[in-house]
Amino acid sequence: MSVDRGKVVLCVVLAGLSGLGLSNLGVKELGVAAKGGDPVSGREIYVNTCIRCHGIDGKGALGIKLVPPPADLTSLAVQSRLDGTLFRRIHEGKPNTAMGAWKHSLSDEEIWDVLTYVRTFGVESNGQP
Ligand code: HEC
Repeated sequence: MSVDRGKVVLCVVLAGLSGLGLSNLGVKELGVAAKGGDPVSGREIYVNTCIRCHGIDGKGALGIKLVPPPADLTSLAVQSRLDGTLFRRIHEGKPNTAMGAWKHSLSDEEIWDVLTYVRTFGVESNGQP
């Protein structure tokens, strides 16, 4: 009796694990990122608030001279960071750089949207979500 129950528990755990694996795969294949943020709304926010430093393609605006320069949002260095890390960076900004904290002007939802849009730079430049 107790053995059977052990088996059932094991099955449930395995099913849960494989379910997680499958759903992660699905997200990667679709190139969808950042907790289902809306990339269309994200693009609007990007154009209004981020483009003047990060440029239309995320590689940095022409003619801007900041020290340090705006991060190349298409780079592996940025794109390989976890969603949570990038969310925090946009939310809190980066001390001693021109990258300000956007939590005062953007809602959490808007930050997820703009982050979802930022993720599309990675898909376009290196084929990796
Ligand atoms: C006033 C210029 C400016 C604006 C506007 C700006 N950024 Fe930045 N951003 C920077 C700079 C400078 C850095 C690089 C800081 C560094 O050297 O790490 C940066 C870094 C970043 C990074 C990379 C952080 C990391 O982990 O390396 C992300 C992501 C980012 N910005 C997103 C955004 C988004 C999204 C917006 C619009 C909501 C935005 N930025 C608006 C200047 C700006």
